[in-house]
Amino acid sequence: MQNFLQPLGLNVGVIGTQWGDEGKGKLVDAMSAHFDYICRSTGGANAGHTIYNEGKKYVFRLFPSGLLHPDTIGVIGNGTVVDPIDLIFEIKSLEETGIENIRPRVKISLHAHLVFEYHKTIDAELERRKGDKKIGTTCRGIGPTYNDKISRRGIRCEDLLDKELLKEKVFANVKFHNETLGLNVDAEEEFQKIMSVRDEIKPLLTDTRILLQEALRDGKRILFEGAQAHHLDIDHGTYPFVTSSNVSSGGIATGLGFPARKITGLIGIAKAYTTRVGSGPFPTELNDQLGEDLRAAGGEFGAVTGRPRRCGWFDAVVVRNSVEFNGLDCINLTKLDVLSGIPELKVATKYLLDGQEIRTVPTTRKANQKLEVEYITLPGWEEDLSGIKDFTDLPENARSYVTTLEKLIRCPIRAIGVGMDRQDLIFRD
Ligand code: IMP
Repeated sequence: MQNFLQPLGLNVGVIGTQWGDEGKGKLVDAMSAHFDYICRSTGGANAGHTIYNEGKKYVFRLFPSGLLHPDTIGVIGNGTVVDPIDLIFEIKSLEETGIENIRPRVKISLHAHLVFEYHKTIDAELERRKGDKKIGTTCRGIGPTYNDKISRRGIRCEDLLDKELLKEKVFANVKFHNETLGLNVDAEEEFQKIMSVRDEIKPLLTDTRILLQEALRDGKRILFEGAQAHHLDIDHGTYPFVTSSNVSSGGIATGLGFPARKITGLIGIAKAYTTRVGSGPFPTELNDQLGEDLRAAGGEFGAVTGRPRRCGWFDAVVVRNSVEFNGLDCINLTKLDVLSGIPELKVATKYLLDGQEIRTVPTTRKANQKLEVEYITLPGWEEDLSGIKDFTDLPENARSYVTTLEKLIRCPIRAIGVGMDRQDLIFRD
């Protein structure tokens, strides 16, 4: 691990390169022992990081997953959206699993926006109205909360400090949404719900920008734990089938008030195949038995919603874009073990639209229907990869799969996941 981390410097970000669920939590968890602060800069409880350690399963939603380590401090930045009821539930479930001393180690930005129950109602209602054009959101109220933020009527964590002001804002927002969407939300009920967790949330609030500036000045090690992935970014993803924040590397700076120039290293996480939940383009999707087999072998069901994930071949165009647009230093390829037993593996190398090469995933339905994807075919391997610790011990075809991918994506693959446990990671120098 030391050799892996050394070239990346003190302040390192971890970014999903596909459409989420690449398995970011596992590397973050393995890295956390080497960092003092683990930060979330964007998103909310729509993320779901699952970690297996010594046979125990932990699911983190808003919490930085690095908190499994006893000395790390978890920062939930101004760019996130905080569902306070979910958050307290998450703290309590983690406390029940025996993780110690959580509350003093959680620092939530005073400027993060609050997710209310009515945001979830609006999320579900807007999806219903879209019919077959729905985004397939997690229905966690993420989009409507960011909508309130951008429209400058959002309610921030700092508003919890003033009960009267909080009440005034909740009543005004509920009235606004009831009137514009024809909903029947009860403002008093919303207010009482938030009041039921207010006293537990208040001690966790702070100006996290100042906290991180001090950490930076003191030479502390800071890890930025990405949520979702580059292709779900509100600007750079497959709009409108995206989440509502900047989940690519730029979001680290804005979502934490952290100077962009001080991010010293960026790691991209890419699954050895591709998955996606929700609607939207997916050029290498497998709508056949193989897709279903991959889903079963990889346990590809959403950590938050339990929805089956769509599965397909590795798409080098997608990952290469993430490498280039985010400036990634290296890649952690995850779940290579899931591909064992597939006789031949395809990898997408190029997109053609009307005979011309295009370099990103098209966003219109028409273009996606016409899109031609060029593949190469590589030989598979039979062997079970779990327990392998050294790259040279992988079957030859697995090694050549990895080295072919890294040439196609133009980025070194320096870590490889070969099993569920924290230990099942191969590092390459
Ligand atoms: P939202 O973030 O709930 O608004 O959902 C918008 C899109 O992002 C949908 O396609 C979701 O399935 C997707 N999405 C949100 N969070 C995750 C995640 O953690 N993993 C994978 N997809 C996600």
